[in-house]
Amino acid sequence: MALRHFLTLRDFTKEEILEIIDLGLQIKQNLKSGIYRGELKNKTLAMIFEKSSTRTRVSFETGMFQLGGHALFLSNRDIHLGRGEPVKDTARVISSMCDMVMIRTFEHSMIEEFAAYSKVPVINGLTDSYHPVQLLADYMTLVEHGAHENIVAAYVGDGNNMTHSWMMLAAKLGFELRIATPKGYEVDAKILQDALEIAKTSGAVIKTMNDPKEAIKGATVVTTDTWVSMGQEDEKEQRIQAFKGFMVDDEMMSLAQESAKFLHCLPAYRGYEVSEEVFEKHSKIVFDEAENRLHAQKGLMVWLANK
Ligand code: CP
Ligand code: NVA
Repeated sequence: MALRHFLTLRDFTKEEILEIIDLGLQIKQNLKSGIYRGELKNKTLAMIFEKSSTRTRVSFETGMFQLGGHALFLSNRDIHLGRGEPVKDTARVISSMCDMVMIRTFEHSMIEEFAAYSKVPVINGLTDSYHPVQLLADYMTLVEHGAHENIVAAYVGDGNNMTHSWMMLAAKLGFELRIATPKGYEVDAKILQDALEIAKTSGAVIKTMNDPKEAIKGATVVTTDTWVSMGQEDEKEQRIQAFKGFMVDDEMMSLAQESAKFLHCLPAYRGYEVSEEVFEKHSKIVFDEAENRLHAQKGLMVWLANK
């Protein structure tokens, strides 16, 4: 059995991504029918949080319980990692006792180092660079809403961890993604290069621009994220100025296809990256997307445990 980590979608094939989502959908179906198979009975998931979370914590903890296992919430305020115990030591200790580890942290290199020293699968629960579990839920939601064929996705906002994960999803699955960011808030050039390289074989089209209207025109999926990610709180005022004109509002949505779906990973800041009207009009799919964090991650954990 090969040890696999889930740090970015980059390391997964299209088939594997779809397999994980399918498994998540099957497990979701079981849950809705009251069937619990105990796929991860007696297994433990360590969850290390160096940043806040509502969805990630609740979905992983609940998911692990529903699969018959147990999750440990480890805040960096409580464990020695936060007091300077080396990442590689923490990784060796935790992975000698637990069966899987989920980490939410700042620098992506931290999770890479942890994974390099871990004996068990490590899952990225968000870093400054990527948020891949969110994209599993997002794509699952598009499948359920019948919106996963011939995707033309528009991402409007900050070139951040969510954008980078959308780039990897598009590159792997082969759909069109247009990214509009203000000048100075573009995506990471290296990650873009990487995604464009993968896109050559999948047929994906990934375009970056500074005009949100150009990105949204004719899109089948529109998505955005906060302008101020965790760790950027000091830049709030300057970001609000820089992102003027980037709010996804009714006027902006009217440029997309009439049937276009709106997605948001949440938390959403109305009046900033999305208007109250657009958010509430699309709230059904957005909260399906949030719920699917639970189901997609259960699929992921079972998939990783069986590798
Ligand atoms: N979307 C998401 O990851 O939400 P949390 O920050 O609440 O976990
Ligand atoms: N880009 C956001 C995503 C939150 C789920 C952040 O990193 O804070």
